[in-house]
Amino acid sequence: MRIVLVGPPGAGKGTQAVRLSEELRIPHISTGDLFRANISQQTELGKLAKSYMDAGNLVPDEVTIAMAEDRMGQPDAENGFLLDGFPRNVSQAEALDELLENENVTLDAVLDLEVPEDEVVKRIAGRRTCRNKSEHVFHVTYSPPKKEGVCDVCGGELYQRDDDSEGTVRKRLEVYHTQTEPIIDYYKAQGLVVTISALGPVDEITQRALGALKRDEDAK
Ligand code: AP5
Repeated sequence: MRIVLVGPPGAGKGTQAVRLSEELRIPHISTGDLFRANISQQTELGKLAKSYMDAGNLVPDEVTIAMAEDRMGQPDAENGFLLDGFPRNVSQAEALDELLENENVTLDAVLDLEVPEDEVVKRIAGRRTCRNKSEHVFHVTYSPPKKEGVCDVCGGELYQRDDDSEGTVRKRLEVYHTQTEPIIDYYKAQGLVVTISALGPVDEITQRALGALKRDEDAK
């Protein structure tokens, strides 16, 4: 399956993507995680991306699309993938369509996670991310690690992301509304959007998502 996951910052895209990619046996491709890996390795791409990310802005399309295409071209993504955080504006969605067309494949669904704004603010404020692997995510109240400040999965140090400060989160939400939300209409026109509520316990949301994707597939 080829799926795009969309939703505001802090909606739980990364949290759900880890579970869904395991259930669906497709790789989880997060452009945010790829940028953070470049930042920790201090690559040129990482240095460039950090300045945009810390300000809550999108990293320029040219480098983002090239990075995403390179990752989607790796062997593990040949039979499908779960995209998290890409595409993030209409021109990225058009670039993805072009890439898929060249490969003679199509998207199966765009899973839209709906969460009220006051909830995403609470989720982001309490988020703690692993320095070793930004896919390992915790929350001080909703899903605390067994030992404070330590990742349950790999023992890495937990930290608060630089772009999770209050001012940056406000900017990220604004960017989401102005630049990312339009891709939902773009994909609605292609009949691909499956919307679910992302409120409630994490495992319940995973089951809700799997059920909605299955119903959508059966209806096609
Ligand atoms: P990215 O890393 O993609 O950030 P985001 O989209 O803002 O999403 P988040 O990672 O903040 O949240 P999430 O929805 O994954 O939530 P999570 O599962 O962590 O992008 C960061 C930056 O990189 C961008 O701002 C941009 O600069 C750049 N970038 C990335 N992609 C780009 C692109 N395509 N083009 C240009 N620039 C790009 O959950 C949040 C918290 O809530 C966690 O603490 C979690 O434990 C908790 N939680 C999750 N689910 C629940 C639940 N059901 N109940 C209670 N708590 C929950």
